[in-house]
Amino acid sequence: MKVAICSAQSHDRRFLSKANSSFGHELVFFDSHLNEETRQMVAGFPAVCVFVNDTLNAAVLNTLSQQGTRLIALRCAGFNNVDVKAAIKLGLHLVRVPAYSPHSVAEHSVALMMTLNRHVHGAYNRVRNGNFSLEGLLGFELRGKTCGIIGTGRIGTALAEILRGFGCKMVAHDPQPNPECIRLGVEYVSLQQLYAISDIISLHCPLNQESMHLVGAQAIAQMKPGVMLINTSRGAVIDTAAVIAGIKSGKIGYLGLDVYEQEGDLFFQDLSNQVIQDDMFERLLTFPNVLITGHQGFFTAEALSGIAQTTLENIALFEKTGRCQNEVTLELLR
Ligand code: NAI
Repeated sequence: MKVAICSAQSHDRRFLSKANSSFGHELVFFDSHLNEETRQMVAGFPAVCVFVNDTLNAAVLNTLSQQGTRLIALRCAGFNNVDVKAAIKLGLHLVRVPAYSPHSVAEHSVALMMTLNRHVHGAYNRVRNGNFSLEGLLGFELRGKTCGIIGTGRIGTALAEILRGFGCKMVAHDPQPNPECIRLGVEYVSLQQLYAISDIISLHCPLNQESMHLVGAQAIAQMKPGVMLINTSRGAVIDTAAVIAGIKSGKIGYLGLDVYEQEGDLFFQDLSNQVIQDDMFERLLTFPNVLITGHQGFFTAEALSGIAQTTLENIALFEKTGRCQNEVTLELLR
């Protein structure tokens, strides 16, 4: 099938081209994001492959449909950047990669926790400058701490597996409790309880109407003073302005982010020679107890191989049968 790959980075070219040797699709790579300005670039492609910061709103989907696109293949798990209802109404099929090494994202969440709690980011810079003072680098052990996991699907469960090894107490909140997590020793509690007792809170739910700005001023007020907050899910699950206020007041002691609400204008590109216009993001960077990575939780060789394989398989299956088990349906919005 002729496939337009949008927002293509060098690793997309590498992993998709390699996996394609056993599929034989015609892959055409575009550096640009897909959005209202760029929608014409994919004219005539029956399949369009997109990533997290491509914008598939009703206007873009409408154009795609008119231009002859029948399949949108998301090379990610989340689909919050797609107007699913509009796509289905237009008869467009949406497929995604629901699972690809959840361990990659879970391990990255732990990397953020461990870097923050032992101030590794500060220590790295100090030692390079010949400063071997330990002043301000006092850490704490994960052992015995209570970790609150919000969202215990594939990634939340992989995190629980790791944290069990650290000797953490684990509580979780999820509208659909997971028996595997209960087996791992996770206790399901209300959100209020989770906020009140957790030393570390890690977010692993999808972005949807219920989770939008879930961690706002009200939630932060219920948290333990000095709490560590980790977000590797989607940026808008936290209200960034409220979190900045929480850091300034000392309520939030540590913040680890792999995602950011306005990341579409920033991440996955080299802006080191430009003046960043996002003042909220720049404010976050001024805090010593904030660590931000640019949406790299998924970025391991294992995960990228899995993503490439499933994406191309999804397209091949759709081409052959018009169906695919990884289709995004209205059911998934509930
Ligand atoms: P999943 O679908 O396996 O699990 C999500 C869980 O969240 C489900 O158990 C669901 O019941 C629960 N949930 C839904 N709404 C909730 C709410 N309001 N409060 C609490 N729990 C809620 O998804 P998976 O694979 O574990 O991924 C989770 C999220 O991680 C994705 O939606 C995506 O946004 C993000 N992600 C981030 C990556 C990165 O590179 N940083 C890579 C892959 C995913």
